[in-house]
Amino acid sequence: MTDFKSILNADVALINEKLALYVSESSFAGRESEGLSAMLEAMEYSLSNGGKRIRPVLVLEFCRLFSGDAVSAVSLACAVEMIHTYSLIHDDLPCMDDDDMRRGKPSSHVKFGYANALLAGDALLTLAFETALSDSSLDFSVRVKAALELAKAAGASGMIAGQVMDLANEGRQAALTDIAETDKRKTGELIRVSAVMGCIAAGASDEQLSKACEYCEAIGLAFQIVDDILDVTGDKEELGKPIGSDADKNKSTYVSCLGLEESKRYAAELTEKAKAAVSGFENSQFLVQLADELCGRSN
Ligand code: IPE
Ligand code: IPE
Ligand code: MG
Ligand code: MG
Ligand code: MG
Repeated sequence: MTDFKSILNADVALINEKLALYVSESSFAGRESEGLSAMLEAMEYSLSNGGKRIRPVLVLEFCRLFSGDAVSAVSLACAVEMIHTYSLIHDDLPCMDDDDMRRGKPSSHVKFGYANALLAGDALLTLAFETALSDSSLDFSVRVKAALELAKAAGASGMIAGQVMDLANEGRQAALTDIAETDKRKTGELIRVSAVMGCIAAGASDEQLSKACEYCEAIGLAFQIVDDILDVTGDKEELGKPIGSDADKNKSTYVSCLGLEESKRYAAELTEKAKAAVSGFENSQFLVQLADELCGRSN
C-alpha cells in the first residue's frame, strides 16, 4: 500500500469511527421517543453511507501539515462531514435536484419520506455545531473560532447562497462568471472551511492559512467541475448517484458552458495551481497527491 492510501485509509477509519459514535442512538440517551427513531435512523443512514470523506480528511491533513495534533481535530472534521451530509439530503429533495439515489442507495426522502429527510438534515446541521462546540479536548477559543468559520461557510453567504444560485441556473444558460460564483459557494466554501478549521486547530500562521485557502479554493472549484463532468460521463453504479441529473434540469454547469474537453483542461489547470500552493511546505506530499486523485476520480 502506498503512503497516500494508508494515510487516507487511517483518516477515513478514524472519521467513520467518531461519526458513528456521535450519531449513535446512545448519544441520544434520555432523549428517545417513539417518533424520533425514524429520524435518527435517517441521520445514521446518510452519515454512515460511504461518502468519500474528503472534507474531514482535509481538516485532519491541514492540521497535520502545520504540526497540529490531527486526532484532536476529529470533532471538527466530523462537524463538517455532518453539514456536508445534510446538504446532500436536502440537495436530493424533489424541490431541489430531485434525485432518488445517493452514495449507492435510495436517497433519504425515498427511504424515509420527505419530513424525516428534511428533519434528519436539520438535525445533522445542528449536531455539527454541538459536536464542535462541546469537544472539551480542544481549547475553548479553538472551538469557537472553528464553529464561527463553519457557520459562515455553511450559511446564507456560503454554501446555501451557492445552492440558491444553482437553482437559479436551471432552465437557462448562465454566464461563466455566474457558474464560477455558484460553484465557489455551493461546493468551495465547505472545502475551504475544512482547511481553515484544520489550520485553527493547529494554530497555523496567517501565511499558512492563506496558502491552505489558495489550495482549497482551487481544488474546490476543480471538484465541482469534475462532479459536473461525471454527471455526463460517469457510471451510475460507480458514482452511486444518477447520471444526467444536470442535463435533465437544463442546469448551467462548466460542462454545459465550456464543453467536456475544456472543462477537463480547466480542472487540471486548477489542480496544478492547488499543488503549487502547498508544495513548498514540508510533508505536503499527501495533499499534493490528493489534488491529483480528486481530479482523476471516477466517483
Ligand atoms: C458531492 O460531494 C456533492 C458536491 C459538492 C459535488 P462528494 O462527491 O464529496 O460526495 P460524497 O460525500 O463522497 O458522497
Ligand atoms: C451539490 O452539488 C452541492 C451541495 C450539496 C451543496 P450537486 O447537486 O452537483 O451535487 P450532486 O451531484 O447532487 O452530488
Ligand atoms: Mg445540487
Ligand atoms: Mg445534486
Ligand atoms: Mg452534481
